[in-house]
Amino acid sequence: MKKIIVTATALVAAASFALTGCSSERGGGGTEPGAGEETTGFEEGATIGVALPDKTSENWVLAGKLFEEGLADAGFKADVQYAPASNTVAEQQNQIQAMVTGGAKVIIIGAKDGKQLSTQVQAAKDAGAYVIAYDRLIENTEAVDYYVAFDNFKVGQLQGQALLDGLAERAGHEAPYNIELFSGSPDDANSAVFFNGAMDVLQPKIDDGMLKVVSGQTEIAQTATEGWKAENAQRRMDSILTSSYGSAELDGVLSPNDTLARAIITSVQQAGKKVPVVTGQDSEVESVKSIMEGVQYSTINKDTQLLVEQSIKMVGQLQKGEEVDVNDTEQYDNGVKVVPAYLLDPVIVTKENAAEAYQNVPSLLEIVKSYQ
Ligand code: BGC
Repeated sequence: MKKIIVTATALVAAASFALTGCSSERGGGGTEPGAGEETTGFEEGATIGVALPDKTSENWVLAGKLFEEGLADAGFKADVQYAPASNTVAEQQNQIQAMVTGGAKVIIIGAKDGKQLSTQVQAAKDAGAYVIAYDRLIENTEAVDYYVAFDNFKVGQLQGQALLDGLAERAGHEAPYNIELFSGSPDDANSAVFFNGAMDVLQPKIDDGMLKVVSGQTEIAQTATEGWKAENAQRRMDSILTSSYGSAELDGVLSPNDTLARAIITSVQQAGKKVPVVTGQDSEVESVKSIMEGVQYSTINKDTQLLVEQSIKMVGQLQKGEEVDVNDTEQYDNGVKVVPAYLLDPVIVTKENAAEAYQNVPSLLEIVKSYQ
């Protein structure tokens, strides 16, 4: 059940090409996916840049540490930088530019704003470096070579299905169910993909009346959470409860990640209402505890260790001039090219399957066991 994922910018680009009657040429000429592309290799021990966004969830904090260790173990010099929480876009642009100037051979980027890095990734390309988009796609540029991520559309589908399962288990009454929808930050290309994946499951149930979005806010722009910030999600939940709920119960909330899930739960609790079924993502420690306590309903396990290992494996293949492993050459159109991707499989986690889901993540398994 794979779907072609076309980012919003790709759709705009496609629309404008259709309008100008130009459908085959895409501005810069377009390259085919790089699976099987020849790579030339570079010296052992080279510097590898890793530019990560601000630390909006635990996975980003962990990724930096794992890249430092993993790249060093693989014999590279790691230059890992985080963009600070303020002025993030400009700082990340500067950091990437400095990595190019410093001679990094591969630059791995977790983009703060995937639409605002074209100049820097082009500079990397011009300097002969490879660019790997990590977790978040980099848009509107030919200069991104590979994408490594968990299957974001599937993450959304799993969240949508978990919401339905949770409602059947916990709402305590038959349908229709009152729900609200949240999505991530509009500057993160993943946000729309998560949301579209979830709506792939939920929209038919909204259409047939099983789910009622009481606020009426179903457009992604209405559901967005600027900067993936907890306070923004909490404020929006507060205001929806005040304006749309009165004495009505809220049965479920689609939350795109754990940080926002906890903020939504706090808002509902402060309003004195029963905690609804709330989804999440990232397997953050506080959310895993909340799930085991029967509060948050679900999260997603996207094992950061595996994602970092896959990225470092790509770096090793590039260094040796080998063919780079990719397993998807169709889904991630960044507006000017389909970026060859290696997608890992996300796993849904509820109280019921937590022990099994975290069997390879000792720190989380220990938490789960402490509740059993
Ligand atoms: C990541 C999520 C994360 C979010 C906020 C997304 O790009 O894929 O795992 O929750 O950013 O940090």
